[in-house]
Amino acid sequence: MKKIFVNGYGSIGSRITSFLKDDPEITVSGVGKYSPDEKVNVAISRGLDVYVPERKLNDFSNYKITGSIESALDECDLVFDAAPGGHGYKNKKSLYEPKNIPAIYQGGESTTGDESVSDLLFNSRVNYDKAVGKRHVMQGSCNVTGMGKILEPLRDKFGDKLIRFDVTLIRRWADIEQTDKKLVDTIEMTESPHHGDDVKMYFGKDAPLYVRAIKVPTRQMHLHIMDIRFKDTAPKPSEIHEIFTNEFGVATLWTAKGTKDVRDYAQKMGFNFTDTNMIHIHANMTTSIGDTVQMIYSDDQTGIVILKITC
Ligand SMILES: NC(=O)c1ccc[n+]([C@@H]2O[C@H](COP(=O)([O-])OP(=O)(O)OC[C@H]3O[C@@H](n4cnc5c(N)ncnc54)[C@H](OP(=O)(O)O)[C@@H]3O)[C@@H](O)[C@H]2O)c1
Repeated sequence: MKKIFVNGYGSIGSRITSFLKDDPEITVSGVGKYSPDEKVNVAISRGLDVYVPERKLNDFSNYKITGSIESALDECDLVFDAAPGGHGYKNKKSLYEPKNIPAIYQGGESTTGDESVSDLLFNSRVNYDKAVGKRHVMQGSCNVTGMGKILEPLRDKFGDKLIRFDVTLIRRWADIEQTDKKLVDTIEMTESPHHGDDVKMYFGKDAPLYVRAIKVPTRQMHLHIMDIRFKDTAPKPSEIHEIFTNEFGVATLWTAKGTKDVRDYAQKMGFNFTDTNMIHIHANMTTSIGDTVQMIYSDDQTGIVILKITC
């Protein structure tokens, strides 16, 4: 039985914990909290032991916490770091490396530059084998993970018949439960988005992939608009859909009018956190024109990375 500590109990940390608790080969040894708020009691009510930074122990005197994060780390086999972007690197340097504990980081970190957490950006569809034996691995962000689930099957099927991928990422503003984060009535443009370079970390640095990103005021998933250019005449939409029939974590939908329809259906089906843990090809939007296939898929921002982290 492996003991795993989840450091950070926000959108991603709470989901990782929930999935890990269902795994009979894993014990969740505890979760790390940094703010003394109602989520401490939420975690405790879910049967979790809550640990806090040593230096903040006094701040949590009104809560039934179990101890310090530093002490909890001494007892675990692996950490899932679910800290806000950039804090994972700091945790690596101040906690995990000194204690020689292997760790998995989230997409807000980096695999390049001075604050790189790992030399591997993990995407289970592409480089599962490369993670074996690594002590520090970074899971790609939700958009980066979603793109891999489309690009890799296309490459498997069409190889050098593919000339170029142009992707526009329409990113959600906030998560469903981030109620303190208000949506702003604007369409925000993202200069030099990191997503294309991140995908190239696993898809190949010379991949003909061109990514633009904007952010829109919704909590209901990301949407990717992808144009795929072929050397000759592009395949028919049905041939594209056929490739994804048996792809793990990819749904093909025909009648959703928008991303909220997908979320609402997940809720109706009783899915955890109203996540589908998938990307969804909106098949009614796929077209084939000359040498180009146009497709649109939505990306369950919170759920898609959990599927990858825990598979
Ligand atoms: N949300 C998404 O859709 C999404 C999707 C893919 C990837 N990610 C990535 O996942 C990571 C976490 O994002 P999130 O959306 O879960 O953020 P979040 O909801 O803001 O949660 C962050 C959590 O980290 C805790 N925390 C604060 N300082 C910390 C530290 N120094 N070390 C460890 N934990 C700390 C916070 O604790 P307190 O609340 O107690 O202060 C909070 O529970 C980021 O790298 C993000 O880019 C997010």
